[in-house]
Amino acid sequence: MVVKEFEKRILCIGAGYVGGPTMAMIAAKCPQYEVTIVDINTARIDAWQTDDLPIYEPGLLEVVKQVRDKNLFFSTEIDKNIKKADIIFVSVNTPTKTYGEGAGKASDLQFLEKTARNIISAAESDKIIVEKSTLPVRTAHAMERILNTNDKNLHFDILSNPEFLAEGSAIADLENPDRVLIGSRETESGIKARNEVVGIYANWIPREKIITSNLWSAELSKLVANAFLAQRISSINSISALCEKTEANITEISNAIGTDSRIGSKFLNASVGFGGSCFKKDILNLVYICESYGLNEVAKYWESVVEINDYQEKRFVKNMITLMFNTISEKKIALFGFAFKANTGDTRESPAIYVARHLVNEHAKLTITDPKAIGNAKEDLKPYLKEDISSIQFTENPYEAAKDAHAIAILTEWDEYRDLDYKKIFGSMEKPAFIFDGRDILDHEKLFKIGFNVSAIGKPLMKHF
Ligand code: UDX
Ligand code: UDX
Repeated sequence: MVVKEFEKRILCIGAGYVGGPTMAMIAAKCPQYEVTIVDINTARIDAWQTDDLPIYEPGLLEVVKQVRDKNLFFSTEIDKNIKKADIIFVSVNTPTKTYGEGAGKASDLQFLEKTARNIISAAESDKIIVEKSTLPVRTAHAMERILNTNDKNLHFDILSNPEFLAEGSAIADLENPDRVLIGSRETESGIKARNEVVGIYANWIPREKIITSNLWSAELSKLVANAFLAQRISSINSISALCEKTEANITEISNAIGTDSRIGSKFLNASVGFGGSCFKKDILNLVYICESYGLNEVAKYWESVVEINDYQEKRFVKNMITLMFNTISEKKIALFGFAFKANTGDTRESPAIYVARHLVNEHAKLTITDPKAIGNAKEDLKPYLKEDISSIQFTENPYEAAKDAHAIAILTEWDEYRDLDYKKIFGSMEKPAFIFDGRDILDHEKLFKIGFNVSAIGKPLMKHF
C-alpha cells in the first residue's frame, strides 16, 4: 500500500460546533493537507465517525462524508496527534466562569491552559498554535508564556484566528465568509507563521477577504463583533417595548431604518431575546475585561445590552400571564420551538429555557415542540423539574402540541411554523385562544380573523374581548 504524503498536518483540539465544521471545510477545500480533530470526549469523537453527527448543521454531513477517512480524521489520541502536527488549532470551550474571581462574567480558561500544557508535554518539534476559541484579549500573551517556557528548546508561534460562523449557516459561512481574520505578533517568525495560515484559507477564499492584524486586535475583534451584533438586537428589542405602548409596528420600523445604508437591514428582527452560546458569554467577558482595566463606564454600556435581553424575556412571560387573565395555573401552553434560533438543535442560552421555567413556576402545563431540539430541551429543563420531566410533554408534531392548549408561544423562527394550518389548530384549542409571537413570523391579521387573540413582539395587540 502506498502511504499518501500530505503537504501539511493540521490538528484541531476540540470537536465542537466550531472545530468540527471548520476543519471539515478545510479538509474539503485542501485535499493536500491531512486534517485531524481530537477531543477528550470519546462519545463525541465516535459520533463524528457515524452519519449521526454530534451537531446538526445543514450541509455538514455531506461535507464530512466527502472527506472522512480520506484527509479528515477523528481521534481521541491527543498526544500522538500533537507530535505529528505542524499547525494546531485550539477550539476547546471557554465558558463563563462559575466560581471564584470573575464568576458570572470572566471566561474560564482552564481548558485552554490544560491544552497548552498538553501541547508542551507531547510536542517534539516547533509548531504554530492557532487560537480558534473566542478568548479575552491578551490571552495569547499567557499562552506564549506557558508554551515558550519549556525545557525542550521548542518554539511556538501563537496566532489568533477567531471564527465568525453562525450556527445554522455554518457551512455557507465557512465556504464564503465575509472575511477571515488572522492576528500574529509582528515579528519575523510571527509574520511567517501568519502567512502559513493565510496560505490555508487562500485555497478557497479570495486574498482580499483574508485580513491580517496584530494579535490583540484579532482577539478583541471577535468579542467586539459579537457585542455589536447583540447590541443591534437589544436596540431593536428596546424599541419593541415602546411600539407595544404606542401602536407603532416594530417590523415597519426595522424596514424603515434598515434601508438607510449606514444602518443596514441585518440583525434588526425584534424577538423574545437573543440566545446562543456566544453573545451573552462574550459580552459579559468584554464587561469583565473593561472593569479589570477600570473602564467602568464602558463596562456599564455593554452590560446594558445583556440587561435589555433579560428584560425582553421577562416582559414576554409577564405579558402572557397578564393577557391570560392573570393566571395560567393548570392551563396548557404550547411552546413552538426551543432551539435558540432556527436550523439548529442547539439550545444553549435559548430564551425558551427562561420562558419554560417561568411558565412552569406559574403551574402552567407545557407541551414543547421543536423539529431538532427536543433532546436538548429535556436536558435543559431537567434541573428545574427536580428530575420529574414527565410534567412537561414533548412532541415533534405542532398540531399535537397545540391540541387543547389555551395558548401558543412562538419561540423559534422555524420556517415550518409559518405555514401550519392555523384554522385547524384554532379548532383544536381551548377558547379564548391566544398566540404570542416571540419571533414576529406569523400573519397576525389572518390569525386574528381566524379567531385568535394575537400578541406579537413590538406590534399592536389584537384581541376579541
Ligand atoms: C467553543 C467555545 O464555546 C467558543 O467560545 C469558541 O469560540 C470555540 O469553542 P464550541 O465549538 O461551540 O465553541 O464548543 P463545544 O461544542 O463545547 O466544543 C468544545 C469541545 O472541546 C468539546 O467537544 C470538548 O469535549 C472539547 N474539549 C474541551 C477538549 O477536547 N479538551 C479540553 O480540555 C476541553
Ligand atoms: C453568533 C454570531 O452571529 C457569529 O458571528 C459568531 O461566530 C457566534 O455568535 P450564532 O449565535 O450562531 O452566531 O447565531 P446568530 O445568528 O448570531 O443569532 C444569535 C441570536 O440572536 C439568536 O437567538 C437569534 O435568534 C437572535 N437574533 C438574531 C435576533 O433575535 N434577531 C436578529 O435580527 C438576529
